[in-house]
Amino acid sequence: VGQNFVSLKQVDSTNTFLKNLLSNSKPVPEGTVIMAEDQFAGRGQHQNVWHAEPGKNLTFSMLLYPNFLAATAQFDLTRVISLGVYDALAPLLRDNLFIKWPNDIYYENKKLSGMLIENSLQGSNIKSSVIGIGVNINQEHFGDNASRATSVKQILQRDYDLKNILFDICRHVETWYLKLKAGETNLIRAAYKQKLYLLNETHNFVSNNEVFSGTIIGVTDAGLLEVERGNVTGTYNLKEIQYL
Ligand code: BTN
Repeated sequence: VGQNFVSLKQVDSTNTFLKNLLSNSKPVPEGTVIMAEDQFAGRGQHQNVWHAEPGKNLTFSMLLYPNFLAATAQFDLTRVISLGVYDALAPLLRDNLFIKWPNDIYYENKKLSGMLIENSLQGSNIKSSVIGIGVNINQEHFGDNASRATSVKQILQRDYDLKNILFDICRHVETWYLKLKAGETNLIRAAYKQKLYLLNETHNFVSNNEVFSGTIIGVTDAGLLEVERGNVTGTYNLKEIQYL
C-alpha cells in the first residue's frame, strides 16, 4: 500500500477523485494512494462535510481490491483500517488512544481521525474499496468543534511530517490487511475490541429519541454496536444510536 502514490495540491475529495479514476480509465493498481494538500469538498460519514486547514492535516484515500471478502464481512475491513491507523499513531500517543465505533480514532474524548470507506460490490463479494482517511496532524484550532476534535500537534505541541505519518499508516494497514487475507479474522476482531472506546463502561446514549444509560460490551461480527441496558443487550447500526 502506497507504492503507487500521487500527491495533489487541491481536489474536491480524494475519495471522489479515486472513484472517478476507477470508473474512467485503465486499471488502477491495488494499494494506490491519493493524497491532497487541500480538499474543497471533503466528505465525511452521514453526508457530512469534512473540513481541514489546507496543508496541515492528512487527507488521503487508498484503493484495495478485497475480492476475497463477502459483502456481509465488510466490517472486518473497517476493523483492519481502524487498526492500521491506530497502530501508526500509537507510538506517538501511546495510552489514551482508542477506536471509537465504528471507525474513528479518539485521543481521550476527542476525535483525531475519521474515515469514509466506499465499497463497490460484485455479486456477493466486494469488488473494490476506496478508503478515505482524515487525520488531524498540525491543525491547532477547531472553531466550533473544539470540544470534540483534537490533533497530534494539540496533544504533543510540535509539528509532524504528514508524509511520514501517511506511510506509517500505509505500512500498518498493509500488515493488518494481509492478516485479513490470511483468514485471521478472530485475531482482528479481538484486537479491535481491545482498543474500543468506552468498552465495558457505562455511558449515556440516544436511540429513538430516548436517552438511556448503557454499557458497550462489544461489536457484532457484522459491525453492530452491542450495548447492555439493564440485563438486555441491544444491537445498533450507525443510524440507530448516538453517544452523548
Ligand atoms: C468522518 O469521520 O466523518 C469521515 C471523514 C473522512 C475524511 C476523509 S479525508 C480524505 C477522504 N476524502 C474525503 O472526501 N473524505 C475522506
